[in-house]
Amino acid sequence: MNPNSICSNLSVAADGRTLLFAGHSATQLVEKYGSGLYVMDEARIRKNARVYVDAMREFFGEGSCPLFASKACSFTRMYKIVEQEGMGVDVVSCGELYTAKNAGFPMEKIYFHGNLKTDEDLRYAIGCGVGCIIADCREEVDAIDRIAEELGVRQRMMLRLTPGVDPHTYEAVATGKVDCKFGFAIENGMALEIFLHTLKKEHVDLCGFHCHVGSMVFDSDVYIRTAQIMLDFIAQVHTDYGFVTRELDIGGGYGVRYLADDPTIDIRANIAQVADEMKRMTAERNIPMPLVHMEPGRSIVADAGVTLYTVGAVKTIPGYKTYVCVDGGMGDNPRYALYRSPYTVVAADKLHEECDMLCDLAGRCCESGDVLQEGIYLPHSLERGDLVAVLTTGAYNYSMASNYNRYPRFPVIMVDGENDYVAVRRESFADIVLNDQ
Ligand code: LLP
Repeated sequence: MNPNSICSNLSVAADGRTLLFAGHSATQLVEKYGSGLYVMDEARIRKNARVYVDAMREFFGEGSCPLFASKACSFTRMYKIVEQEGMGVDVVSCGELYTAKNAGFPMEKIYFHGNLKTDEDLRYAIGCGVGCIIADCREEVDAIDRIAEELGVRQRMMLRLTPGVDPHTYEAVATGKVDCKFGFAIENGMALEIFLHTLKKEHVDLCGFHCHVGSMVFDSDVYIRTAQIMLDFIAQVHTDYGFVTRELDIGGGYGVRYLADDPTIDIRANIAQVADEMKRMTAERNIPMPLVHMEPGRSIVADAGVTLYTVGAVKTIPGYKTYVCVDGGMGDNPRYALYRSPYTVVAADKLHEECDMLCDLAGRCCESGDVLQEGIYLPHSLERGDLVAVLTTGAYNYSMASNYNRYPRFPVIMVDGENDYVAVRRESFADIVLNDQ
C-alpha cells in the first residue's frame, strides 16, 4: 500500500522499499537511535496547530484560541512547539502542569482540567499562577475558593458542564453524556445549582463554562449542537442573573485518519461553520459572543507520529493464525488492548512487496492480550530484523506508555526538515529502578 494515502508526510524512498517519514528513512532512524522508536514530525505538528490557531482567530476573533490537550502527548518540547504556534494548553494533572511550567509555558495560557483535583493539586496550581482552573465537582469549587483565599489571590475559574450531547464516538471517549463522571449536567439542574453556588465565592473569578463531549468526532454538527445547549444555558444565566460569560470552551475531539478509508475532516471549514452558527445563536439570544476555546489533542499530534519496531519472530500456528512479534507492544501503545483501536501497519523496509500474509501484530509483553493489531496483511517474506511501522501514533501512545514488564519506554525522536533530534531520551534500566528503595 502507498503510505501516502494515510498522511502526506509519508512516502516511499527512491529504493522503492523504505518508508520515509517527513523525508527521513525509517531504516536510518532505527540505525541511528535503536528500536523501537516513536518518531514525530515537528513541521506537521506546527502545521496542524496553525490550522486551529488561524481559523479560530479569523472566525471567532482575537483572543479566541485553541488549547493543546496535552494529555495526547506531553513532554517538554511539545509545550515549546505549541507555544510558538500560539496555542494555549489544557493540562489534566500537576505532572502535565509541571512539565509545561518547566518548559517555560506562560502560566496564564494554561487551563487545568480533570474530574478530581486534590487540595495539594490545587495549592500547587494556584501557587504556580495557573491561568484557569476548570472545576468539575462541588468540592473543587469550595477548595479553589479556600486555597485562593489562603494564597491571597482571586482564581480565574470555569465550570465544566455536561450538555448531554452524544458525539457518536466510541463509549470510552464519550464524555458529554448526562451520566458520565465529568461535569455538571445542564439537563437536570445541577449546572444551575453549582453556578449559583460559585457566584457566592469571593476568591473565585468565574469567567465562563467548559464542556467536552468526546473524542474522535467527525460529524460537523456535534459542536454546533453542543454550542447551542451551552449558549442556551449562558443566555439563561444572563437573563436571570445578569451574568456575562466571558469565555466558552467547547472542548476537543476532531477525529483523525488511522485507516486509508477513514474520512478526512476539513477542520478550518468546520471551525468557520461553528463560528457562523455561534454568532447567529448569540445574536438570536441577545447575548455577547464570549471568547471561544477548543481543546484539540489528537488532531494536533496523531498524524505527526509513527512508531518503528523490529520484527523478532514470525510464528505460524498451522490451521490458526500467524503472529508477527515485534520489540514493543501494549507498553508503548495500549490502545488496541484498551479500545480495539485500528491502525495502519506497514513493513517499513519492504514496501515494494505484496502484503499477502494475514497476521496479528503482537508485542512482547508476557500476556496474550498484548496485541497491537489483529487481522492485518503484511508481506509473507517478513522475518527477524525487518522493520514494521505503525502509523498515526503521535497521540495517546507515548503519553499512555507504561513500564509494564519493566520494559524501558521508547525515546521520542523529532524530525524537523533535514534535522532529527532526541525530544525524549530512551529510558535505561537505571531509570527503571530509579525509585526503588
Ligand atoms: N479536552 C478534554 C476535556 C478532554 O477530555 C479531551 C480528551 C480532549 C480535550 C482532547 O480530545 P482529542 O482532541 O484528543 O480527541 N486515551 C483515549 C482518548 C481519551 C481522550 C480523553 N479526553 C485514546 O487513546 O483514544
